[in-house]
Amino acid sequence: MDQTVELLMVFKQELEQCGSLQQLQDLRVKYLGKVGEVTNLLKGIKDLPADVRPVFGAKINSLRSELETLLADKSSTLKAKEMQLRLQNEQTDISLNSVADWGALHPITLIENKICEIMVSMGFEVLSGPEIETDYYNFKALNIPEDHPARDMQDTFYITDNILLRTQTSAMQARLMEKKKPPIKMICPGKVFRSDNDASHSPVFHQIEGLVVDKHITLCDLKGTLEYIASQLFDSKTKVRFRPSFFPFTEPSVEVDLTCSNCGGKGCSLCKGTGWIEVLGAGMVNPFVLDNCGIDSAKYNGFAFGMGVERLAMIKYGIPDIRLFYENDQRFIKQFGK
Ligand code: PHE
Repeated sequence: MDQTVELLMVFKQELEQCGSLQQLQDLRVKYLGKVGEVTNLLKGIKDLPADVRPVFGAKINSLRSELETLLADKSSTLKAKEMQLRLQNEQTDISLNSVADWGALHPITLIENKICEIMVSMGFEVLSGPEIETDYYNFKALNIPEDHPARDMQDTFYITDNILLRTQTSAMQARLMEKKKPPIKMICPGKVFRSDNDASHSPVFHQIEGLVVDKHITLCDLKGTLEYIASQLFDSKTKVRFRPSFFPFTEPSVEVDLTCSNCGGKGCSLCKGTGWIEVLGAGMVNPFVLDNCGIDSAKYNGFAFGMGVERLAMIKYGIPDIRLFYENDQRFIKQFGK
C-alpha cells in the first residue's frame, strides 16, 4: 500500500484519540516536525527512481496539507470543548441568598437631617467647619481669652498650644463672619470634642450651631426660630422658655428649656418633675465678636444658638444613656431608622 495512504490512516486514528490541545501539539510534532514522519518520507525520495520522484513528492505535499487541515479542525473542536469546560467550572453560583443585612440611619443622623431640613425651609444655609481647630476660632475670636475661666467649662483636647479638637461648633461663627458679610443665616452641624465621659457626656458628640446676623434682630426672633424648630421636631404644643445664662460670645445669654416631650409639661421622671427640659445655649451675638470679624456692631446685630444633637435625640426617642449611640448595636439603631 502507498506509504502516504498508510500514514494518513494511522494519523487519523491517533488524531481520533487526541483529547487535549497539548496532545494535539505532540501529534503535530510527531508528523510534521523536523524529524517527523512526513519529513522522513520526504527524505526517502532521494532513494527512489528518478521518474517516480515527482509523483511521490506531490503525494507527500498533498498529505502534508491534508494533515494541516485535519489538525486545524481538531484544534478548533478541542478549543471549543475546553472553553465550554472552563465556563462550566468557573460559573458563579448566584442562587444563594445574600447574607448582607439592611442597615438603618443612625438616630443622630435622623435628628441632624431633620433639623437641617427645618432650617433650610427657613432659608438657612448649611455649612461645615474643621474638627481640628485653632485656639483662635474656638476661643479667642469668641471673646474667650487665655486664662479666662470660661475655658474651664469645656475640657479641651489640645494637640499643640494653639491647635485643638474643637469643643463647640461656635468655632464656625468667626470663620464665617470673617468671609461673609450680613445678612447671614447659617447652621453648622458637626462633631465636637470634650474630655468628659459618663451616662450623659461623651468625649465626642454632635452639635448644631445656628447664626443669624442682620439689622434689627431681637431676642424675639431667636425665640420664634427656636419655637418653630421645637414645633417641627417635637409637636406644635411644645413651649420654649429662656433662663438667664452666660456665654462670653453672646450678650445677653440664655439657657433654653422646652416643655417635656414625655409628659407635656406635667412633670415626670424624664424632666425630674419640673415639666421642662434644658436643650441648648443661645443669646444675642456679643458686639465684640462682630467687630472682631469686621462687621460693624453699630449697624448689625444677631443671635446664635448651639444645640446638642445627642440630647435632642435622647429626649425625642427616650434614650436613657448617651453611650448607646456609639456602640453601633444594630438592634438599637434599627428601632429608629425607616
Ligand atoms: N457653644 C455653646 C456650648 O457649646 C453653645 C452656644 C452656642 C451658646 C451659641 C450661645 C450661642 O455650650
